[in-house]
Amino acid sequence: MAQSHKPETIASLRAIPMFSGVSRDALESIASLLIERGFPKNKTIVEEGAPGDYMYIIVEGRVKVTKLSGDGREKILELLDVGDFFGEMSLFDEAPRSASVKAMAQVRILALARNDFLRLLSRSPDLALSVIQELTRRLRQVDEQASSLSFQRVKERTMGLLVRLAREEPGQEGRPRTPVLTHQQIADMIGTSRETVTRAVKGLKAEGWLEQDGKHYLVPPAD
Ligand code: CMP
Repeated sequence: MAQSHKPETIASLRAIPMFSGVSRDALESIASLLIERGFPKNKTIVEEGAPGDYMYIIVEGRVKVTKLSGDGREKILELLDVGDFFGEMSLFDEAPRSASVKAMAQVRILALARNDFLRLLSRSPDLALSVIQELTRRLRQVDEQASSLSFQRVKERTMGLLVRLAREEPGQEGRPRTPVLTHQQIADMIGTSRETVTRAVKGLKAEGWLEQDGKHYLVPPAD
């Protein structure tokens, strides 16, 4: 089960993108509302279909957002990292959790209760704007995925995904590098089978477009 830890410092809250424009006074009161929790690798933090009372901000580790398809397969909607938030949708519309969120490594998160979250948003336009900007980014990505699912072949979908994940990876120099990924995870993200991804990856390596470094993939530089 989740365990509680000490509250975050103001400096570490400031480093979270969602709080970057918030005043020091506001951060002090936000800090007192956040509850820190730890989850081991593979633990489900949010369960699709369950009611939602809290939203969460990641302070350590990485999570995957997944949804079960009609045939019972798990589709990965997104990988979220330190500084990212999740679990806000149910707080806005009071509908059940839209997806499951699972720890991909040891994870530490800050939990914020529904009423506190909604009150903070109504008092801080900067905070509300940064949440809206992130939701806009996610909607753009869903739009991209929807159009690539219908128009692009698996090879192009694999390339698009690897480029996006590599460019989103923080603190990199030189050739963009994805996080650790398995063929199965790539397949679950682009909506195909593991075998098809294995073939696409092999083809992309043979063409010289893709290289591998352990379990990371190296994609061509932006230009
Ligand atoms: P909620 O529906 O409360 O619980 C599941 C959470 O997964 C959801 O809030 C969002 O925070 C997150 N989520 C759902 N769909 C996506 C997506 N396409 N990209 C990123 N995060 C998502």
